[in-house]
This record gives sequence, C-alpha cells and structure tokens, in this order.
Amino acid sequence: MKLAVYGKGGSGKTTLSASLLQFLSYFCDFHVLGIDGDHNLHLASELGATASDMQRFVQGSARDIGNDLEWLRAYFAGNNPRITPDLPMIKTTPPGEGSRVLKFSEPAEWRQRYVTVIDGVELIRVGDFTSDDYRKKCFHSKTGAIEIFLKHVWEDSNEAIIVDMSAGKDVFASPLPSLFDGNLYIVKPTRKSVANAVDFLSHAKSFGVEMLVIATDISNRQEITAIESSLQRPVDGVIPHDPFFVQRDSLLLSRPPHVREASFAVLDALYDLTALLQQLPKHNWDKILTKMLYHHEETAADWAGNKFTAQIQPGFNPFARFQPQVAAKV
Ligand SMILES: Nc1ncnc2c1ncn2[C@@H]1O[C@H](COP(=O)(O)OP(=O)(O)OP(=O)(O)O)[C@@H](O)[C@H]1O
Ligand SMILES: [Mg+2]
Repeated sequence: MKLAVYGKGGSGKTTLSASLLQFLSYFCDFHVLGIDGDHNLHLASELGATASDMQRFVQGSARDIGNDLEWLRAYFAGNNPRITPDLPMIKTTPPGEGSRVLKFSEPAEWRQRYVTVIDGVELIRVGDFTSDDYRKKCFHSKTGAIEIFLKHVWEDSNEAIIVDMSAGKDVFASPLPSLFDGNLYIVKPTRKSVANAVDFLSHAKSFGVEMLVIATDISNRQEITAIESSLQRPVDGVIPHDPFFVQRDSLLLSRPPHVREASFAVLDALYDLTALLQQLPKHNWDKILTKMLYHHEETAADWAGNKFTAQIQPGFNPFARFQPQVAAKV
C-alpha cells in the first residue's frame, strides 16, 4: 500500500509515520519504505538514525530525490519513446511502453542511490532547499520526485510506502494525493488542529480525494466526540496520548524508543490502524490511472503545452504484468 500522512504543523505526522513504519516492519513482517516529504527533515531521527546513518545523507551516499530530479527522470523514463528532448518527462508524465516500471522489492539502482536503512525501515528523503533554489523554486517542485517514483514502483500486499508530508495545503497544487491508496489526515484535540482539519478536508473533497481522519494524542472519549462534532464526520482511527510518543521527542533520550518498546495501548492502536489500512481497496489502478491521465492532460492544457498529451499511451497499464491474473471465466 501507498500511504500519505498529512496534518497541521506539530499534529503528529512524523510520530505516526515512524511508529507505523516500525510497527509494520517489526510486528507484521512488511517490507517498508518511509519517504520524508518534508523540508524539515525529521523522519530519519524519528526512526532512530545513528550518526553513521546521518553521515550517508551528508556525504551524499544517500541522495535526496527532490534534489536529484535529472537522474530520477532519466532513470524511470528508461527507453520510453514518448519521452524525448522535445517532450521531456514532467511530473505528470504517465509511464508508457519502455518506461522503467519496477517491483518495489527487486534489487534496483534507485535503492542504492537513495535509501538508508534504519533499524529495518528503508528511508528516502525528498530533501531540503539548496542555495541554488533561493528565489527560484517552491517545495512542490521537489515533491514532484515522489510523484515520479510512485508512478513507476509497484508494491505487493506485504509492502508499504509511507510518505510523511509537510504541513499545509501546498499539496493541492499537485496531483500527488491521487497516487495513494490511503490519505491519512492527523488531528490532535486542539482548536487549531481541528480548524485546519476542517479546512484541509474541504479542499480534499473538492479535489476528489478521500481522506481517513486519524485522531491522535487522545486522552478521553470526550476529545473524540469533540473532534467528530467539529468535523461533522466520524474519525477513522484513534491513537492515544501516551508517554511512548512523548519520549520519542525527548531531548533527554539519545534515541527515540522503538515501537517494540511501546505500551499495549500503543500497540493496540497501531494494530487497529493497520487492520483499517488493510481494508483499503488495493491497487485501485483503474481509478489511479484515470486520474493520472486526467492530470497530465490538464497540465498540458494549463501550462506545459498540448503537445505533451502525446506522452499518453492509450490503454497502457504500467503495472499489468505485476497484477495477479484473474482466471478467465468459461
Ligand atoms: N499520540 C501522541 N501522544 C503524545 N504526544 C504526541 C502524540 N503524537 C504526537 N505527539 C507529540 O507531538 C509533537 C509533534 O509531533 P510530530 O513532530 O510528529 O508532528 P508533525 O506533524 O510531524 O510536525 P511538523 O509539521 O513540524 O513536521 C511531538 O513532540 C510528539 O511527541
Ligand atoms: Mg514532521
């Protein structure tokens, strides 16, 4: 499954992303990849990165995908004849015949170039602004790297890719949310967190994106009721207020505790959340492909130029060869 985690600044996106990645990896035997989609790069340390893990980013032996777009585009374009110097890959370009479409777990160059493994969890970062970006680039030009990546990588049912997004509504300036199986909005029981949730969820609705609402830092039933009445909808998951989560951000600990050290209350909540996520329609490619093509046509019409519609290969399903064969009915 491909999941994105959204929420107001400080709502608990990174805490939940890291905890869920560790839970799926350690307790459910999932092969997991976290993508830090925020320019405030906290996911590595939240996962317990050591000094030598962090060195990989500093030395460039694990590159940031948002700052490596040229290589990323050429790599996934493969030898797709619809991607040419005149029609270069843009972030909405759909894969076509010849594109490098890969199974998530197969050994591949992208993994060596971008991934750092922290306690069993693979991690990629989009990266921060560089001095070349000042006055020129906004952050969603970098998160376009996530769009390209997700469109070319197929994951099986015991594999999960979770993107810890940056706070705010910038994501609606891109088609990124339509590429996920699940979009999780994290909300704390505070006035501002709930106000932002109301706003974000209404944008998501206009955008045609279904959101799961996960209430976190919850101490009692009244808080859930108050969130539900403000949002005028039920919450889909609840994560309790728990010292385990507080400790994960403690300056007094050299490393955040791993989820194997969590309380039963935390493990129960993560178990319930996992059960909920596993009920999501998997690989809803008809829907995702339709949206992918729609967004590319829209981009071509809006700013890239109509000639970019030539990049669409009608009827092409990049993941057809990975999809389980449905037995033909006699
Ligand atoms: N369930 C919880 N119980 C107790 N504390 C929590 C819980 N969830 C998150 N927190 C605390 O909330 C704070 C903010 O969490 P976190 O850094 O995950 O938020 P964020 O949404 O990723 O923020 P940012 O937008 O800055 O990236 C942290 O100090 C974390 O320990
Ligand atoms: Mg964060």
